Amino acid sequence: MSLSPDDADLPPETAAPPRAAIRLAALGDLHVGENVERPYRELFARVSREADVLALCGDLTNFGKTPEAEILAADLAACTIPVVGVLGNHDYECGQPQEVARILHEAGVKLLDGEAYEIEGVGFAGGKGFIGGYGRNMLSAFGEPAIKAFVQASIDENLKLESSLRMLKTERTVVVLHYSPIAATLEGEPPEIFPFLGSARMGETIDRFDGVRCVLHGHAHSGVYEGRTPRGVPVYNVARPVLNRRLGVEFALFDI
Ligand SMILES: [Fe+2]
Ligand SMILES: [Fe+2]
Repeated sequence: MSLSPDDADLPPETAAPPRAAIRLAALGDLHVGENVERPYRELFARVSREADVLALCGDLTNFGKTPEAEILAADLAACTIPVVGVLGNHDYECGQPQEVARILHEAGVKLLDGEAYEIEGVGFAGGKGFIGGYGRNMLSAFGEPAIKAFVQASIDENLKLESSLRMLKTERTVVVLHYSPIAATLEGEPPEIFPFLGSARMGETIDRFDGVRCVLHGHAHSGVYEGRTPRGVPVYNVARPVLNRRLGVEFALFDI
């Protein structure tokens, strides 16, 4: 079920009661290239046997090229469960994220960019997110117009996350991002680039909402798997290299 901002004040639907738990598979940083054949078809078939919903955490393509998105869309035909996802910075590289989004939308992916979805009684909120840093060293909107525009882009992405969380009335919510809302899952990356891997603004926003069971992100290929927001919400870095190298798995599984 897709939700819009206008739905926020409506009473809950009298639908079938939500199931006790859903099994959620998650994976980010697929980086589909244009010269690969069926890179994820088998994996999506396996995910469909083991999970109820799949979350894709951005960098779905290498450069945001149309053929890359089409290869991924073709592989998604093997996925028989609902798919939610966000784009990553790599999906913007060619300057046509709308085209990548269109192709994936037509392949059945429910893309989060300020929207929210309810699947099997679980709410899904999120968006790509953006960068800006953490704690006292977070970049502030001071000085040159370029700096102010940069910080505003971070604030705008965070506002999308906030509005998507606000749309949901579910008791259980999963947040899907590309950039990291906390610094803890970036350990292993060079400290100099932490401010370019995410923003604490997102973590602070998530902590203002009850019912968030977990936050999923990608982007930090050399980071670690697990951390928590300041209020204790579990955060998982499901970037494919992290899952492969640190956990020895192809995708993460959660009972929500
Ligand atoms: Fe990536
Ligand atoms: Fe990325």
